[in-house]
Amino acid sequence: MLHGARPSNPLSQAQSSSQAHYILPSDDSEVQRLNLQNQLLTRELCNGKLIYAPAELTHGDKVLESGTGTGIWLTSLAEELPPTVSFTGIDIHTRLFPSHFPSNLSFLRHSVTDLPLEWTERFNFVNQRLLIGGLTAQEWTKALQEVHRVLVPGGWLQCIEPHIPAKTDIGPYTERMFEVLRKLLSKNGLVYDIVDELGRLLPETGFVDVRKHTVSLSAHKRGDEFNHRTLMEWFFTALKPGMLATKLLQSDEEFEDLMQSMLKEWDETPEVAWSWSIIYAQK
Ligand SMILES: C[S@@+](CC[C@H](N)C(=O)[O-])C[C@H]1O[C@@H](n2cnc3c(N)ncnc32)[C@H](O)[C@@H]1O
Repeated sequence: MLHGARPSNPLSQAQSSSQAHYILPSDDSEVQRLNLQNQLLTRELCNGKLIYAPAELTHGDKVLESGTGTGIWLTSLAEELPPTVSFTGIDIHTRLFPSHFPSNLSFLRHSVTDLPLEWTERFNFVNQRLLIGGLTAQEWTKALQEVHRVLVPGGWLQCIEPHIPAKTDIGPYTERMFEVLRKLLSKNGLVYDIVDELGRLLPETGFVDVRKHTVSLSAHKRGDEFNHRTLMEWFFTALKPGMLATKLLQSDEEFEDLMQSMLKEWDETPEVAWSWSIIYAQK
């Protein structure tokens, strides 16, 4: 049962300043969630493509993934491209990294806000997905500067992030859950309207040809298969320890009651849907 998964306390994993405000867990349940989320977002948001930006990768090119997590995007792309292309995944946590992978892949512990100096103009393509739960406003600025530095001129960056609405219009329980989510993000200095912010930050950093593709995915349908509703439900469950640790919700029971009431509102609202964007730009 996917939504029965209970992640460990994400706030106890803080080890350095860039880890201190990361609000999602790094456990077995999160590995499963991230891998299923990869399939869903690739299929529903990116029309089945791992690279949505108009980048053409060829022999000898280098790909970087920032905040790689389980490395599922990188390992899937490596299966599609020639073995002469090299792939580097970085993350502040090494716990989710895959244990077996081909020799043209590497997984390294780095923060995207502080990439190695020798990486200047090394990569042809950078992918960064779902850093909304990891980067503060200042860190987004630094991260984009670092990504811009390590891209070759003409190289592409693609980012995938969700829209967290300022108002939901679904019902009082959904509104309350999203209010708690927005407060959790802002308590940790994170940026809930990052899709809009990227539209401003990317050109400011020096990126050109900034483009955005947005898809609204229904969360109405219940089903046995992993779908967008299951993903959203699991996402909130993964955030529960953070919501309790920061006292935004007082108890397990308060969280479960709110979750069940919110899902009932989703059952009663056929148009319930949440949007995701892929934002891509060139150096
Ligand atoms: C929600 S997960 C997404 C993982 C992967 N991008 C995916 O879509 O499957 C976010 C990842 O970003 C990592 N992260 C958070 N802050 C980071 C930073 N400053 N630099 C690099 N990675 C970071 C987290 O450790 C986590 O693995």
